[in-house]
Amino acid sequence: FWSNVQKGPEDPILGVSIAFNKDTSPSKINLGVGAYRDENGKPYVLECVKKADKKIFEAGVDHEYAPIVGLASFNSLSVALALGEDCKAIKDKKIAVIQTLSGTGALRVAAEFLARFYPGKTAYVPNPTWGNHNTIFADSGVAVKSYAYYNPQNCGLNFDGMYNDINAAPNGSIILLHACAHNPTGVDPSIAQWKKISQLCKDKQHFVLFDFAYQGFASGSPEKDAEPVRLFVADGHQIGLCQSFAKNFGLYGQRIGAFSLITGTPEEALAVESQLKILVRPMYSNPPIFGARVVSTILSNKELTEQWRTEVKGMADRIIGMRESLVKYLKQHGSTKDWSHITNQIGMFCYTGLTPEQVDRLASEFHIYLTRNGRISIAGINSKNVEYLAKAIHAVTK
Ligand code: LMR
Repeated sequence: FWSNVQKGPEDPILGVSIAFNKDTSPSKINLGVGAYRDENGKPYVLECVKKADKKIFEAGVDHEYAPIVGLASFNSLSVALALGEDCKAIKDKKIAVIQTLSGTGALRVAAEFLARFYPGKTAYVPNPTWGNHNTIFADSGVAVKSYAYYNPQNCGLNFDGMYNDINAAPNGSIILLHACAHNPTGVDPSIAQWKKISQLCKDKQHFVLFDFAYQGFASGSPEKDAEPVRLFVADGHQIGLCQSFAKNFGLYGQRIGAFSLITGTPEEALAVESQLKILVRPMYSNPPIFGARVVSTILSNKELTEQWRTEVKGMADRIIGMRESLVKYLKQHGSTKDWSHITNQIGMFCYTGLTPEQVDRLASEFHIYLTRNGRISIAGINSKNVEYLAKAIHAVTK
């Protein structure tokens, strides 16, 4: 049957972990996949999550199916976290929301919905973007193009290019924006720049889809990280919103996220929700319940929410500290290059500017693994490996 099936390549991000796992060197470092590690390089289970686990266990819950849309309490808490409790669209019941299989699942449901109900439109994604964006849209039958985003000259934002490309896209296009902590570059627009993009998207009647995978993880404040999304909503955009709770709650493998769509009326919201259910049923029927219970238990409890805020800030702060430490050691070991982008960029990733050949050398000579676009997951750095990493980066860039 399958003799015509050719072996495909490993995923550019998840494949890095496969190579890392095969390496037996004690000094190996995985800076590939964006998964938070603590000071000892170990996965981190948040204390608030442990407490929620216990509460759920003690409540003696059953394991019945969730509804197709997922857990109702999770859905409303999730949207309120992103848009703010006083968001008018929430009060007016104009939002259709569905629990999804993390951020990827949210994007996939969004893309399938757009293919069915907003046909013939092209999705514009930043250049570069998280590689999965391109495949998610393409596999859902939505054409994908890119808009300028990154300026390799200063490792920062090419705002004029971004603005011009969004302006040149046909009216009513789909514009995908990373709400904060842009993946892979760690470069975000300023609030003044977001305002201009919002106005432009209004003038062009574009449909804006936010990928919001790092709320709280970028600045340490969930509210600050939500500012761009809230600004677009306040400007009257009927945005689509894809949320992930993988990074900010450390719930990677629980596959917990949400897709929501702001609509014009409560009736529209109900109609959209009914069609989302019709899309989801033949894909995966209904979502897993555990992650939704954890997030819902935390966000419905004042004390646990406070603890979550402290812990997410702790993760963000550790990452910021590691950026500073890496630059310090690069200088200390004699690198005269300008590494200021390492501290200027924000969130889990740094787009180092390392070439694919330099990345290959880091793996073969130093047992340090990252994606070939030069992105490093800062979360994989700690005070024990940062100096070794700095020496290695200096060795391949001098
Ligand atoms: C990443 O970019 O490393 C993460 O978002 C994990 C993933 O699924 O790619």
